[in-house]
Amino acid sequence: MSRLELRKVVKHYRGSDEMVRAVDDVSLRVAPGELVALYGPSGAGKSTLLLLAAAIERPDAGDVRFDGRSLAALSPGELALHQRRNVGFVTQDPHLLPGVPAVENAALKLLADRVSLREARRHAGVWLDRVGLGHRLGHEPARLSGGERQRVAIARALVNEPALVLADEPTGNLDSRAGGEVLALLASVCRERGAGALLVTHDPQAADVADRVLVLRDGRVGARDAGSADAPSAAADAQAAAAATARSALP
Ligand SMILES: Nc1ncnc2c1ncn2[C@@H]1O[C@H](COP(=O)(O)OP(=O)(O)OP(=O)(O)O)[C@@H](O)[C@H]1O
Ligand SMILES: [Mg+2]
Repeated sequence: MSRLELRKVVKHYRGSDEMVRAVDDVSLRVAPGELVALYGPSGAGKSTLLLLAAAIERPDAGDVRFDGRSLAALSPGELALHQRRNVGFVTQDPHLLPGVPAVENAALKLLADRVSLREARRHAGVWLDRVGLGHRLGHEPARLSGGERQRVAIARALVNEPALVLADEPTGNLDSRAGGEVLALLASVCRERGAGALLVTHDPQAADVADRVLVLRDGRVGARDAGSADAPSAAADAQAAAAATARSALP
């Protein structure tokens, strides 16, 4: 059974004069223990696809399923519980609570689940240590660097060991060494704990740790197996996507 399955999912946004086909008939699966990297140029629909996978956005058509169960059938209360218990979502912008120490920001889901403050802090401290921030537990967001804030968001997503990890450019603010460590951590969360992960990225290193690489262009997905004989072209595809993104960012 797939941990995450998208079946013919469509999400269109109404622009001022035209319809934006942000996600256009996408089907994909992520198995337990599998890490799938999703590349694609800016505006391709990657963040929209993750919002749909996290059930934060509802699709206009098609179905999003978690462990074989359609999320469309869940009530708002069940959806909120699903998002908190089963999904670790690393958003493109960390959205940490201002004025709150890193360790409590990382502990938020545990506190929402009524874990005691002491126990929640202990767990969050372990995960902050894993992302290299064991020495910054008491720092509030304003006293952290951009890359450190991003790593707090990663610890916050992983703190309750969710079955599905959705990460939107989690290494975007990190240098290549810190980025490599975060990618290795995500890969180990998948392999050792059986989580499924869908990782939106521009980082060429992600292709090395991923089981599969997908490329999204204009809301449509293409696939190549990172582990197959196609591997060099999967890596090349990832690099081409990263290069296309870099070009589209130029003035
Ligand atoms: N709420 C919205 N209303 C209207 N259009 C939107 C909305 N959100 C996204 N879009 C449009 O949908 C398309 C896909 O956006 P999305 O944020 O998914 O892209 P992305 O691949 O994540 O890009 P990036 O790499 O820059 O983060 C873009 O053209 C964007 O302008
Ligand atoms: Mg995005």
